Amino acid sequence: MSAFHTLRWIDNGLELLDQRLLPERCEYARFSSADAVAAAIRELVVRGAPAIGCAAAYGIAVEAERLRDCTPDQFAAGMDRAFGVLGASRPTAVNLQWALDRMRASLAGADITETGRCAALLLHTAARIAEEDVSINRSMGAHGAALLPDACRVMTHCNAGALATAGHGTALGIIRSAVSSGKKVGVIANETRPFLQGARLTAWELQQDGIPVTLIADSAAGHLMGTQQIDAVIVGADRVAANGDVANKIGTYMMAVLARRHGIPFYVACPLSTIDIATADGTAIPIEERDAAEVAGYGNLRWAPPGVNIANPVFDVTPADLVTALITERGVLHRPSRAGIRELFGGR
Ligand code: MRU
Repeated sequence: MSAFHTLRWIDNGLELLDQRLLPERCEYARFSSADAVAAAIRELVVRGAPAIGCAAAYGIAVEAERLRDCTPDQFAAGMDRAFGVLGASRPTAVNLQWALDRMRASLAGADITETGRCAALLLHTAARIAEEDVSINRSMGAHGAALLPDACRVMTHCNAGALATAGHGTALGIIRSAVSSGKKVGVIANETRPFLQGARLTAWELQQDGIPVTLIADSAAGHLMGTQQIDAVIVGADRVAANGDVANKIGTYMMAVLARRHGIPFYVACPLSTIDIATADGTAIPIEERDAAEVAGYGNLRWAPPGVNIANPVFDVTPADLVTALITERGVLHRPSRAGIRELFGGR
C-alpha cells in the first residue's frame, strides 16, 4: 500500500490529498459539502478517472451528512442539487457518472424520511466504491503483470497511479503488481504537458515506492521508442467507448501512433467502470477544454505572449485499432472490438 492516501475518511470527514501541491508539498484538505468537493474535482485537487468517481461519491455522502437535520423535502431537494453539481464538475471521465449512478441507486432504495439513515447508507456506499476500486486495481494489476517480460521497460503517459484511484492504480498498478511478483520494471514517464501529471505525480509516486523511473519530455517519446528497448506502453483511460476507442490524457493518441510505428504493444488499463457501452464510439466522447492559462505557463511563470490564441483540449481519443489490449479486472481483451466489449459485460 502507498504511504499516502488520495482520499481518506477521517474524524468523520472527507480529506483529499491536494495534488496541485505535489511534489513540493504533501498536504490534505478537508471537505464538508458537495459544492466544495465539486470545486476540488474541477480544480484538480483530486484527478484521475476512478479517483474523481470516488470523490464524487464521498461528495454525496458529505452533503447528506450536512443536510441530515433538514426536513425530508429539503433533504431530497438538496441531494438532487448535489448530484447535479457533482455530475457537472468534469465531462470526460465516465467514472464520475458511474459512481453518482451507484449513489443514486443506493438513495433510491432508502426511506427518504429517515434522513440520518440515508446519510449513513450513502457513506457506506461511498466507502464500498473506494474499497472496490482498490481490489479491482489489484485484479487488473495481476492480469496486466502477466503480459510483461521479466526485465522490462515500460512507458506511461499522465498519471494512472494510486493518485488517480483510491489506491494501487490502473496503469501504475500493473507496474506495481509486476514489481511485487519479482519482475524488474523500469518506467519511462512522459512529463504530460500542459498540466505535467507525469512529471509532478507519476515521477513522485514511483519514487515513493522505489520503482526506477526516468522522466522525459513528451517530445522525446518517439526518439526513445526508436533507439531504446521499450517493451510496452501502458496508459489508463477516462472513457472507453463501446467499440474500444479510448479517451485519455491529451498526448495518448500520439503515443499510440508511435508505439504502432515501432511495433511496441500499447496497453490500456481500464476498470469496467471506465467502459461506457452507451457511447457508440470515440467521436461521441465529450472532450474537456480547460483554461488557456494551463498552456500559456505554469504557476506564476508565463511564457506565451499576451493575447495569443490558445487551444487546450485536455483529452484525446485513440482509435481502437491502435490498442493492443484492454486490461480489465475481468481479464485481458486483445484487439478490442464491439463484440469483445459486449462479451466483457456478459453479452449485454
Ligand atoms: O486531467 P486528469 O489528470 O484527471 O487526467 C487523468 C488521466 O487522463 C488519466 O490517465 C486517466 O484518468 C486514467 S486514471 C487511472
